[in-house]
Amino acid sequence: MANPQKLMGMQIVTEEDYRRFVAEKQRVKIENVDVEIGRPWRIKEFGPPKDYKSEEFTVWSFPSRGDWATHSGNYRGNWSPYIPRNLITKYSKPGELVLDQMCGSGTTLVESKLLGRDVIGVDVNPDAIMVAQDRLSFDYNTLDRPRRVETRTFVGDARNLDLIGDEAVDLIATHPPYAGIISYSGKRILDDLSRLKLPAYIDAMRKVAAESYRVLKNNRYCGVLIGDTRKGRHYIPISLGVLQAFLSVGFILKEDIIKLQHKTMTTRQRWRGHSYDFYKIAHEHLYVFRKPALDEKTAPLKYSKKWW
Ligand SMILES: C[S@@+](CC[C@H](N)C(=O)[O-])C[C@H]1O[C@@H](n2cnc3c(N)ncnc32)[C@H](O)[C@@H]1O
Repeated sequence: MANPQKLMGMQIVTEEDYRRFVAEKQRVKIENVDVEIGRPWRIKEFGPPKDYKSEEFTVWSFPSRGDWATHSGNYRGNWSPYIPRNLITKYSKPGELVLDQMCGSGTTLVESKLLGRDVIGVDVNPDAIMVAQDRLSFDYNTLDRPRRVETRTFVGDARNLDLIGDEAVDLIATHPPYAGIISYSGKRILDDLSRLKLPAYIDAMRKVAAESYRVLKNNRYCGVLIGDTRKGRHYIPISLGVLQAFLSVGFILKEDIIKLQHKTMTTRQRWRGHSYDFYKIAHEHLYVFRKPALDEKTAPLKYSKKWW
């Protein structure tokens, strides 16, 4: 058998590292898109519009993606802040610790900060971590804020969270690459999961799932947003492989939420013409997994676990 690949460990990136970086460079390139960083933020609102209500059903749709605080749509494939906001408020309490180990531009980190949760963000791409640090560089002081929130960012691989202890995290909210649909770092970063062909990607996601299981506290939740694709005019259910990967390490499926996609023409397949013999994909799956409690008897939940 070939030697297992040695995975990089986590390396902290501090606010000072970010300040030094932006003193020299004010933009980074993520998948051919220039993202400006280092400019002071002028924030109008620190939260969603007044009519915002938490989700209650298993279909979520955010036609306007959310641009409060430092959120901005210019990191390819970033998720709407409404998604981590809903996960964080439903599955954690102020002062608890949230992890996003594929944090990209840091949407989850900003929402955690606004909602008074400590947070750890990890991404394999050092440029992504600079964007995340940039989005976190705002002050947020309200009277009801219980204490200073701790935000920590690391360059690292979601398959090896070596600086996080077992059962240390209260909630995971993460958003992996959808296999190779968007190539985040081109050929620059060896451990970028978006470089992998589907079978290798699913194997890697099994390692991500195992590491998520290790660092999560018992009886706590792990939310994962994942989308599918199409090739040769047929459907490729990437989400099914990811679902199986998380169930195979011991998670129990709590929710399968359908997240509707808007502007799919620019975010997913490229079509020519106006009529097709297939339906355009306009949804993603937001799986919410639960790690069983210690000594929990999970037999009654056997069909929400790995049963095959
Ligand atoms: C869909 S994006 C996440 C976007 C994020 N939710 C946001 O709002 O900006 C997926 C991220 O996974 C990162 N990634 C790819 N392979 C990784 C790995 N092995 N470990 C950690 N992060 C990885 C990519 O660099 C990319 O930033």
